[in-house]
Amino acid sequence: MSEKKQGKIVKVAGPVVVADGMTGARMYDVVRVGNLNLIGEVVELKGDTASIQVYEETTGMGPGEPVVDTEAPLSVELGPGLIESIYDGIQRPLDDLVGLEGEFMSRGSDMPGLNREKKWRFKPTVADGTEVGPGDIIGEVQETSLLLHKIMIPPGVAGKIRNIAEGDFTVTDTVALCVGPDGAETPVQLMQKCPVRSPRDIRKRFAPNRVLITGQRVVDTFFPITKGGTACVPGPFGTGKTVVQHQLAKWVDADVVVYVGCGERGNEMTDVLTEFPELKDPRSGEPLMRRSVLIANTSNMPVAAREASVYTGITIAEYFRDMGYTVALMADSTSRWAEAMREISTRLEEMPAEEGYPAYLAARIAAFYERAGRVECLGSPEREGGLSIIGAVSPPGGDLSDSVVQATLHVVKVFWSLKGELAYQRHFPAIDWLTSYSFYKQYLKGCFEDKQRGQQMEAMTVEAMGLLEQEAELLEIVRLVGAEALSPEDRLALETSRSIREDFLHQNAFHNVDTYTSMEKQFEMLKMVLHFHKQSLAAIAAGVETAEIFKLAVREDIARAKYIPEEEIEKIIKIRDTIDQQLKELQGSAVS
Ligand SMILES: Nc1ncnc2c1ncn2[C@@H]1O[C@H](COP(=O)(O)OP(=O)(O)O)[C@@H](O)[C@H]1O
Ligand SMILES: [Mg+2]
Repeated sequence: MSEKKQGKIVKVAGPVVVADGMTGARMYDVVRVGNLNLIGEVVELKGDTASIQVYEETTGMGPGEPVVDTEAPLSVELGPGLIESIYDGIQRPLDDLVGLEGEFMSRGSDMPGLNREKKWRFKPTVADGTEVGPGDIIGEVQETSLLLHKIMIPPGVAGKIRNIAEGDFTVTDTVALCVGPDGAETPVQLMQKCPVRSPRDIRKRFAPNRVLITGQRVVDTFFPITKGGTACVPGPFGTGKTVVQHQLAKWVDADVVVYVGCGERGNEMTDVLTEFPELKDPRSGEPLMRRSVLIANTSNMPVAAREASVYTGITIAEYFRDMGYTVALMADSTSRWAEAMREISTRLEEMPAEEGYPAYLAARIAAFYERAGRVECLGSPEREGGLSIIGAVSPPGGDLSDSVVQATLHVVKVFWSLKGELAYQRHFPAIDWLTSYSFYKQYLKGCFEDKQRGQQMEAMTVEAMGLLEQEAELLEIVRLVGAEALSPEDRLALETSRSIREDFLHQNAFHNVDTYTSMEKQFEMLKMVLHFHKQSLAAIAAGVETAEIFKLAVREDIARAKYIPEEEIEKIIKIRDTIDQQLKELQGSAVS
C-alpha cells in the first residue's frame, strides 16, 4: 500500500477547514478530514497549507486532527442503479443512509453511490475481438421498464474486447476485458467513476433544434425550450418556481430526468419523493420514477454539499446523454447554490465582488449552463444526445438586477419571468407573457408532423402574442380616457386577449386533465380562441354589437375546453362550429 499523504487541521471555520503538512496535495483532491473521517475537497493551496471545503457538519472538530489525501478528485459512480435513486449532494444514497443510520445521516459514512450487491442482466452488443475505445457501447442492461442502460467503455481505456458474455453481474464484477496494444488487460465493469467538476467528453456540439415538449401551454406555445437548450425561471417567493420545475420534471418528453433540489425547504423535496412514485408517464403508463434521479440537498443540510450537488447532478445527466438519450436537468434553486459559493468564498477570505458573491460567480454559472447541449456522443455506434438545463433563480425580493439572475440571463436562451402580481391574481403559471422570451421559437413548427399545421401554429402564436401586446396598449388607453374611447374592434381585441390569458395560458398544475396538454390539444385550443376572434370581427363588420357577442353561450365552452381530456379532442374542434352557428344566429337577427 502506498503511503497516504497526511496533514493536520490548524483551523476550522464552518464548512471550511485549513490543514498544514499537506505536501503533494493537489487542487480539488478529495480528502478525509478529522477523527470522524469527514469528506472534503481541497479548494485552495498555499505551499503545503490547504483550505478544504467539508461536505458534512464540522462541529466538534478541532486543530491537530488528521487530514488524509485520497489523491482523487470529487467523483460520482455511474452505472445501473442510478435511476430511481435519491442522493445527497455528494451522491450518498439518502434512503439507504436514513434506513441504515437513523433519521440523520451519521457523519463520515461511506455509502457508495451504487448498490454493490444487486445483480443486473448484462447483454453484450459487441463480440470478443472488437476494437473499442472510450464511449463505445459494449452492451446493455434493462435498468427499469423505461430505461435501457448502455454500458460504455470509460475514458482512457482502448483495445480489443475479450471474455465478454451475457450474464448477471454486480456493478463491480468484470463483464469483459479490454486488451491494450501492449497486452495489458483492463477489466471492464458495469460501473465507472467520473470526476464531477469538468464536463464529460463528447465528439461534437450542435445548436439545439427540437422542442422539448413540456405539456405546459405557455411554455410550449410561447416560450419553448429545446432538447439541449437552457432556460431559467426567476421570480419572487411564492410565484411558482418550484411548481414549474416539478411540472417539467413530471411531463417533459425526455428519456431521463435529473432533479436537483438545492437548498430549498425539505418539505418540497418530500413532496417530490411522495408524489413522484405515484405519477405515471402519459405516453407509456409507467411510473415516472423509472426515468428519474433525485438529488436533494435541502436547506438543513451542509452548505458545501449544496455547492457540489449541482455538479453531481449534471455529471449524472451527462452520462445518460452520452448513451444517446434526451436528458433534462432541473435545479431548484441556483440562488441557493450561489449562496453556498458565497459562504465558502467568505470563509476562504477571498475578495468579494458584487453583493458579496465571489468574483468567479458568473464564470461558474456560465460553465454550468454550458454543459447543456445537443451533442454527437463519443464512441460507436454513432448517436446523438441532448441535455437541457432548467434553473430556478430566487433573487431576494424578486429583483431581476440581482447578480445571479444577471449572470444566468447572459447564458440561457429561455427566460420565463414569474411575476408577483400574476401569482397574486392566481394566474398560474405566473409566467409574464410580455417580458419572457425564448430564442428557440422557430423550432415550434417542427413539433408537428404535418408541415402546414406547424406553420399554422407558428402564425397563430404570432397573432396571439400580437393581441396580448395590443391588450397592454389598450388597457393603458382605457386607464387614461375610459372604455368608451374604444372601437368595437378594440373591445373585441381586449376580450380575445382575456380569453387567451384565462382560457389558454392559465393552466392548473393540480387538475388531473389540465396539468398536461399535448401539442395537438394546444393547437386546437389556440385555434378555437383565434377562430372566435376572427369570426367575431366578421360579425362586427356585419353590424353585430360586441355586447351581444360577449353574451354568447359558446364562450363558456371555450373557457371549459382545457378540461376536455386528450381522447375527446374532437369536442374542442367542434366548438368552432358552435362559434360559427351562434354568431350566424346573431347576424341573422342583426340583419332582420
Ligand atoms: N401552475 C400552477 N397551478 C396551480 N397553482 C400553482 C401553480 N403554480 C404555483 N401555484 C401555487 O403557488 C404556490 C407557490 O408556488 P411555489 O412553486 O412553491 O413558489 P416558489 O417556488 O416560487 O416560491 C403553490 O403552492 C401553488 O399553490
Ligand atoms: Mg420554491
